[in-house]
Amino acid sequence: KFKRIEVRPMNSTIGAEIHGVDLTRPLDEQTWQEVRQAFADYLVVYFPNQPLTHDQHLAFSERFGPLMAMPQLLSVEGYEQVHIIKRDADDSSRVIGESWHSDSTYFESPPAAVIMRSVTVPEFGGDTGFLSMYAAYETLSPKLRSLLDGLQVVHSATRIYGSAYHAQKKKFSSVNARTDLDIEAGDREQIHPAVCTHPISGRRFLYLNQVYVQRFEGMTEAESQPLLRFLYDHAARFENTCRVRWQKDQVLIWDNRCTMHKAIPDYIGRARYMTRTTVAGQPPR
Ligand code: SIN
Repeated sequence: KFKRIEVRPMNSTIGAEIHGVDLTRPLDEQTWQEVRQAFADYLVVYFPNQPLTHDQHLAFSERFGPLMAMPQLLSVEGYEQVHIIKRDADDSSRVIGESWHSDSTYFESPPAAVIMRSVTVPEFGGDTGFLSMYAAYETLSPKLRSLLDGLQVVHSATRIYGSAYHAQKKKFSSVNARTDLDIEAGDREQIHPAVCTHPISGRRFLYLNQVYVQRFEGMTEAESQPLLRFLYDHAARFENTCRVRWQKDQVLIWDNRCTMHKAIPDYIGRARYMTRTTVAGQPPR
């Protein structure tokens, strides 16, 4: 299936390492089609040893579609669409993305994909976990799947920059994230189906995450929590996941619709610096 690129799957569910591509240059059409195919097949793909400039990072990202702004992330100076995920060695603030989530699901049109590049990696730790929400859905019993097929879910950023965020003790540092965002915008609610169909693969996937989901529409939080908790645990079973070790200058793409990811905060006392671009998506259906 792949003639130009070498694809090394991490397991049978999610994740592949890709060799034989130089992302510093524009990809020829055949190589690009194979990269897209590998991305569709493995949901998370990464390319070791790609020392991209910000312009090259943007050029590769834009082949996936128009890029979008991310309100809570800081940008590289002069590159509004290249966002920063950064921790200094002495940072003890809240880690960005440490719970399983997909990005910005409280938007009407959440991101389709994220393309992340490692600039400074700690000598140990700082991996990113990923899981497949196709696998999470497909491994539920048919009865629970059909119950979820009929449910809608309420998402908001209240715990990221709304009133629930401001009510808690541990905050993001203003050198890592925007902490001056409009609280009312953080509390604004957005409804999406609990199960969506991927616009490219046509496969169904579970669409829930513990960072942005508040409750099932038409149910209270107390009624929703037991089922949500079960689904989060079910989604995060080891067999649905992969764990990516970062090397300097590694470029990784995740599908932000049918996966969740988690930054693993196990490099206390070490610096970590990543840049990322965000590809715009459609309203999930
Ligand atoms: C994120 O959720 O964007 C951060 C992922 C990471 O730092 O590994």
